[in-house]
Amino acid sequence: MPIVVDVVSEAKYTEWVAAQQKEMASAADDPNKVFTLDELVKRGEKVYMTNCAGCHQPTGKGLPPAFPALDGSAIVKGPKEKHLATVLNGRSGTAMAAFGAQLSDADIASVVAYERNAWSNKLNDVIQPAEVKALRGK
Ligand code: HEC
Repeated sequence: MPIVVDVVSEAKYTEWVAAQQKEMASAADDPNKVFTLDELVKRGEKVYMTNCAGCHQPTGKGLPPAFPALDGSAIVKGPKEKHLATVLNGRSGTAMAAFGAQLSDADIASVVAYERNAWSNKLNDVIQPAEVKALRGK
């Protein structure tokens, strides 16, 4: 019996990835976009799984003592400015990098909103890209 295998060439795959990234970037580039909580959490989950889950784990439980839990964390459940500053600026001398340089305002707003609403952290917080922009460089 002949078997048909659908081989997607690497070039085609690279093209697809670029299109997905462009789609995300164009959403981020609209400075007037105001997100709903649902939109933030959906987008933030993707940002989290790509950039944060390796250390903090998909469950948010981390791998203590190396990587702290974000589920129940006092920073995540505390004032949002401090939470945002931790993600934007990182913690020098630790494995927690400054994500401000590599993530857009919309991605930072989304991932912080995701962490504040995921697992047992049901804060119902909405964070807009403009709030991230205002905190950059502070
Ligand atoms: C390479 C591992 C690593 C990755 C990836 C990582 N973190 Fe962290 N994160 C850490 C470490 C280590 C700490 C604790 C730093 C310290 O000792 O103060 C931390 C601390 C934190 C804290 C403060 C928690 C608390 O209770 O003090 C938050 C919030 C946080 N990270 C969010 C994120 C977000 C959001 C991402 C993804 C955009 C991310 N982290 C990616 C390693 C990581």
